[in-house]
Amino acid sequence: MQVTVLADAEAVAETVAERLLQARRGSDQRPLGLATGRTMVPVYAALRRRFDRLSAPEQQAIRQGWRSFNLDEYVGLGPSDPRSFAAFMAEQLQGPLGLAPIQVQLPDGLALDSQQEAGRYREALIAAGGIGLQLLGLGSNGHVGFNEPPCPANAPCRCLELSSATRRQNAAAFGGDPAAVPERAITLGTAEILSARHLLLVVTGAAKAEILRRSLQEPSCSEVPASWLQHHPRLEVVVDRAALGTFLQ
Ligand code: GLP
Repeated sequence: MQVTVLADAEAVAETVAERLLQARRGSDQRPLGLATGRTMVPVYAALRRRFDRLSAPEQQAIRQGWRSFNLDEYVGLGPSDPRSFAAFMAEQLQGPLGLAPIQVQLPDGLALDSQQEAGRYREALIAAGGIGLQLLGLGSNGHVGFNEPPCPANAPCRCLELSSATRRQNAAAFGGDPAAVPERAITLGTAEILSARHLLLVVTGAAKAEILRRSLQEPSCSEVPASWLQHHPRLEVVVDRAALGTFLQ
C-alpha cells in the first residue's frame, strides 16, 4: 500500500487528477473506474483545468481513448434527474471534456429490472477488459461504491438496499431529507473493485479519519467493506492531513 499525505483537499484533488490523466495516457487502455460524491467534486474540477491546459492533439487523444465505468447509480433516477450520478458525471466530466455519453458508462437507474441491469453492467465491464485504475471514495460507514456493511470481499455487481447511515450521509443532494434519498442502488461489487489492476482511494476531511483508520489499520472484515482493499497488491491511498487524523503517522 502506498500512502500519500497532502496538505489539504485541493492538493489531493490536483494529485489525483494528474494520476487519472496519466492513466488515460498510459499503455493500459482498460477503462477507468470512476466515483461520485463530494470528495470527487474538486478532483474533477482539477481534471478539467488540467485537460484545458493540454494541447489540442493531446486533448483529442484523451477524448478518443476515453472509456470509464462508474461505480454506482441510484435506482429510480435517470440522467435527466440532476440528483442522479449520471447527471453528476455529465456535468462534471462528460460534457466539459467533450466525451460521448457512451464513453462514460453508469448502471441504468431506470432499468425495469435492477438486478438484471446489474448483471448486464457487470458483463459490459468484463467485455471491456475490466477496470484499469479504480478511483474510490470512502463512505462514512466504510462503504466503497455502495457496498454497504456487512459485505464480503467477493460480492458481485448487484442491486442492494442502502443503509440509513448512507441515506443520511447523502441527504444533502436531496434537499436534506434522508427519506428522499432512493432506497436502493446498483453498485459494482467488491469482486469487480478488487479485480481492478490499480486502486486509488481518496479520502479528505477529519470526519473520515476514524473510518479511514479502521479501513486500513484493523484486520479486514465485512463490517468495514473498505478494509478488503488492504489485500489489493496495488493500492494507492491519497489523503489530506485532516483525514489522516492522529493515526498512521
Ligand atoms: C457515496 C458513493 C461513494 C462515495 C462515498 C463518499 O455514497 N456511493 O462512491 O465515494 O459515498 O461520498 P462523499 O465523497 O460525498 O463523502
